[in-house]
Amino acid sequence: MRVLDSFIYGRKPLDEISANDRLEIVEGDLRNIHVCVSSLEGVDAVVLLAAIVGDPASKARPTETLETNVLATQALASAAKMQHISRFIYASTCSVYGVGGDLLDENSRLNPVSLYARSKIASEEIIRKMGDDYFAPTILRMGTLYGYSPRMRFDLVVNTMSMKSFLEGKIQVFGGSQWRPLLSVDDAADVYVRCIEADLKNVGNQVFNVGSDQQNYQIDEVAGRVSKALGGIPILRDNASLDARDYRVSFAKVADVLGFRPAGSVENAATTIVGRLQDGTIRNPTQRIYYNHYFDAAEE
Ligand SMILES: NC(=O)c1ccc[n+]([C@@H]2O[C@H](COP(=O)([O-])OP(=O)(O)OC[C@H]3O[C@@H](n4cnc5c(N)ncnc54)[C@H](O)[C@@H]3O)[C@@H](O)[C@H]2O)c1
Repeated sequence: MRVLDSFIYGRKPLDEISANDRLEIVEGDLRNIHVCVSSLEGVDAVVLLAAIVGDPASKARPTETLETNVLATQALASAAKMQHISRFIYASTCSVYGVGGDLLDENSRLNPVSLYARSKIASEEIIRKMGDDYFAPTILRMGTLYGYSPRMRFDLVVNTMSMKSFLEGKIQVFGGSQWRPLLSVDDAADVYVRCIEADLKNVGNQVFNVGSDQQNYQIDEVAGRVSKALGGIPILRDNASLDARDYRVSFAKVADVLGFRPAGSVENAATTIVGRLQDGTIRNPTQRIYYNHYFDAAEE
């Protein structure tokens, strides 16, 4: 297995597994066409995760967002197709639904409210148009992730609420009625593996919403679950600065075709994250490396 990453947020996330002799780690920028093409040598399947991720990060770096999320993505997909790599899995996002109405399935209208979401839609369209009998890409529209990881993202809702509970003894909710489907980071990994192992006839040239109907939550419910798991942390409401995204998504297809059922829960993630903060595994959760929009690789 080969990982290509420019390590915007440092190399530490891969420390634990870097000694594995079945893993090759390449530091490089996907926007460099030579890096892009040579990264595919000897490869059977591509999982494209690299991107400028999240609304604030894309807003801070619009040019880099277009270069990586759209142009480099197009280049990688074209190179994969030229090299006869049929299986190309693209990490998109449920943010493409933006502000949705009813229960949204894979054919519902897209309504992006950020450059990030628009960049993901543009690349979805480019990749899907390349699909044919041989090159059979899969678009995975992931829900919002949560859970412990070697480089925490404290800019994701469950992780933020858990961290604020630990640091400030309270959870701040902005709005609260917005729907936001959630998915644990371990479950996300499980879906990528399922997708790599699935019969290409079932997953190629397909779009899947990735998450579960059980974890289609409104933000208020997420706060309630985190609060309860951590022993009744007070919840404060603020309706002034609202995140406009609001989408309730159907996950019937990923359950049917890939047999996906979530193993993770918001409650387990909250207690694990707070445990890691308490035992010092995560040092100073306010440092910039934990927030994508700072583009900081330095860890204290
Ligand atoms: N985290 C979520 O909640 C979520 C939800 C839906 C979809 N996704 C998608 O999943 C993927 C991974 O997200 P994440 O949360 O792990 O984000 P992340 O920011 O932690 O990881 C993105 C990685 O891409 C790398 N990268 C960025 N530009 C690059 C370039 N030009 N060349 C090589 N590497 C580059 C960065 O160094 C970083 O390691 C993204 O495509 C994202 O859109 C994430």
